[in-house]
Amino acid sequence: MTKQIHLWAFLQGIGHYPSGWRHADATPQDVFSMDYYKSVGQLAERGRFDSIVFGDQLQSRGANGHTPERVAIPTLDPIALLAAMGAVTKHIGLVATVSTTYFEPEAVAERFATLDRITGGRAGWNIVTTAHPASAWNFGQDEMPEKSTRYARANEFVEAACGLWDSASSDGNPAPVQYRGEHITMDASMPGPLLPQGRPILVQAGQSPDGRAFAAATAEAIFCPAPTKEDGIAFRNDMHARISAAGRDPEAVKIMPGLSFILADSEEEAIAKDEAILDLADEALCIEYLGESIGFWLGGHDPKEPIPFDDIVAGTEFPVADITRMLEKPAASGIALGEFASKHVRTPRGHTVFRGTPQQLADRMIDWIDSGACDGFTLQPAYMPGELEIFVDQVVPLLQQAGRLRLDYPGPTLRDTMGIAA
Ligand SMILES: Cc1cc2nc3c(=O)[nH]c(=O)nc-3n(C[C@H](O)[C@H](O)[C@H](O)COP(=O)(O)O)c2cc1C
Repeated sequence: MTKQIHLWAFLQGIGHYPSGWRHADATPQDVFSMDYYKSVGQLAERGRFDSIVFGDQLQSRGANGHTPERVAIPTLDPIALLAAMGAVTKHIGLVATVSTTYFEPEAVAERFATLDRITGGRAGWNIVTTAHPASAWNFGQDEMPEKSTRYARANEFVEAACGLWDSASSDGNPAPVQYRGEHITMDASMPGPLLPQGRPILVQAGQSPDGRAFAAATAEAIFCPAPTKEDGIAFRNDMHARISAAGRDPEAVKIMPGLSFILADSEEEAIAKDEAILDLADEALCIEYLGESIGFWLGGHDPKEPIPFDDIVAGTEFPVADITRMLEKPAASGIALGEFASKHVRTPRGHTVFRGTPQQLADRMIDWIDSGACDGFTLQPAYMPGELEIFVDQVVPLLQQAGRLRLDYPGPTLRDTMGIAA
């Protein structure tokens, strides 16, 4: 049988383009309303997506003179949202991002057990160690722990949570679970029967060597950026080698890179539509968005001057090596800050951006799958909900006609849908 495509819908409230919320078919005012989540959940289910995914944002956005209303992606609590969406859908999976750096395993295990139980086995956990250093301020800390410590804690956290889920039993006698690690101590028990899926699907979204090692040992699905097909093939090959080395079956782990898209009846129209959306981002918005991506407030800098590379490297809140790698070439080229920032918004968070017709997108997705670049895609509509509607109405039928996307859900749980054994 030809390889099937797995589809996730990464539904940040206003879409993935920083200016997408200004598009005429975007409805940013709806992102705090139940009707909106009901309709986009049902839309994704009509498109036979495996799952909906929500990120989290734990950082303060208003600090240090930032103007969050211009660039913030309003993100409500993912588990609360997905529980509500689970009530108005029947089959689609519900993957919530929850950090292992700022919570405790008993409470997190309890919340996922609840989500899995009340939705008949549709829960997934995108395990992150938290990207934004400003998150620390919201949790009584001055600084985020450094990355390898965060991943060491993540390993223990997941072991403790899995221990709790595995201990559930319906005989009314929950076995106590004791966990003693370097970062996690837990004495807990999980009343109630085994979860419908045994455990929620474990998803990972880190890129560094520590993140990849964690994914190789733990993840059942991986969410990553893949700017080109070649990047996707290289990432998947690297992960397959690491997963084999960790003693697991690489084919059992689904790799789901992000895919942003702009669709129209012809390629020229799609490019024009994309340009029009990008034009909604004025230079100041682009600079603000760039500042968010590099952990350095650029508000006081002249857009016409070169990128203030030395200031950024000295002052960034993010790991200096990552920021140096990202900026050294453009800074050396002498490009003005405003011009660079306006280019930067064209590749939202390093994910690939497709511009073309529905048929071209369907062909491109099939080609990536057949080339071994990925097992599916995490779709990131440029704006919501209009662009997702176009995908469901026009691309999904093409994938189904090509025999690459299911016509219906194979079973009640997310594990059934993703083909991932417990
Ligand atoms: C595609 C993708 C999505 C992510 N989503 C989130 C998120 O919603 N919340 C968050 O705190 N971190 C998110 N992260 C970052 C993770 O927290 C990750 O642990 C962090 O980037 C640090 O690890 P790394 O250097 O291994 O990537 C995401 C990362 C990737 C690659």
